[in-house]
Amino acid sequence: MPLSPMSELLHIAQEAAVEAGTFLKESVGKVKSIETKKGEVRNLVSDIDKGSEERIIQRIRRRYPRHAVLAEESGGGASEAEYRWIIDPLDGTTNFLHGLPIFSVTIGVEHRGEIVAGVIYNPNMEELFVAERGSGAFLNGNRISVSGNSKLINSLVVTGFPYTIAENPDHAVDHFVNFLSEARGVRRLGSAALDLAYVAMGRFDGFWEVSLQPWDMAAGVLIVREAGGRTSDFTGSPTSVYRKQIVASNGLIHDEMVRVLAKAYESP
Ligand code: IPD
Ligand code: CA
Ligand code: CA
Repeated sequence: MPLSPMSELLHIAQEAAVEAGTFLKESVGKVKSIETKKGEVRNLVSDIDKGSEERIIQRIRRRYPRHAVLAEESGGGASEAEYRWIIDPLDGTTNFLHGLPIFSVTIGVEHRGEIVAGVIYNPNMEELFVAERGSGAFLNGNRISVSGNSKLINSLVVTGFPYTIAENPDHAVDHFVNFLSEARGVRRLGSAALDLAYVAMGRFDGFWEVSLQPWDMAAGVLIVREAGGRTSDFTGSPTSVYRKQIVASNGLIHDEMVRVLAKAYESP
């Protein structure tokens, strides 16, 4: 039986993510070149990030030559196309380069400005998170949902830091300190896509970050929402993947997270 157009879109996204993720896993320890990006000393890109991206884009272009692509390493995306694929070919580059097996491939699909499909693949645990708008979120084919923790003090939350963290952009360090005293625990894994996937399936109760790019969160925000969670900016207002701040949670601790985030902006 032929697949519906949406199912086919998700099918191609999954195939691309699994192929690229397998390539990443097999490439640990085989990096040939590393460069810095934007003149930022901590912001690295390797030949493996680029190789992963090429594999994903080739697969998409073969099936959808008219769709636009916005990808971390090759840019693009500006077009009148109805569909836009938003790709991070290796989320967790620093971990990958140090041989720490916490990294992922993440692909979101936007239709007329709305994220309609998303996949996040963790090749080290062989975990594939997927969601289609309006159809729920799944991990390796099983439906997932956010946790039921209703108090921040009983919650495990996670964040990440931009490569410019030494400048403490948007009070990133202050937020981290504030959550340390209000949550059960705070983690920093190093892959924003996995942070979001883990909120969606309940390993974490909440996530925030001050400065993400659309490719870090396009798939993840959809997966969180489809798993019953909430996403917003730091004031609790609805946001878009083209704005930097993100809070994602099980919904129950969201207002508490917003309250803690507000503390950093209060005058002493
Ligand atoms: C980074 C990771 C990290 C987050 C950074 C991102 P990259 O992406 O998602 O967890 O804290 O803000 O830039 O560079 O590894 O693709
Ligand atoms: Ca990323
Ligand atoms: Ca990346």
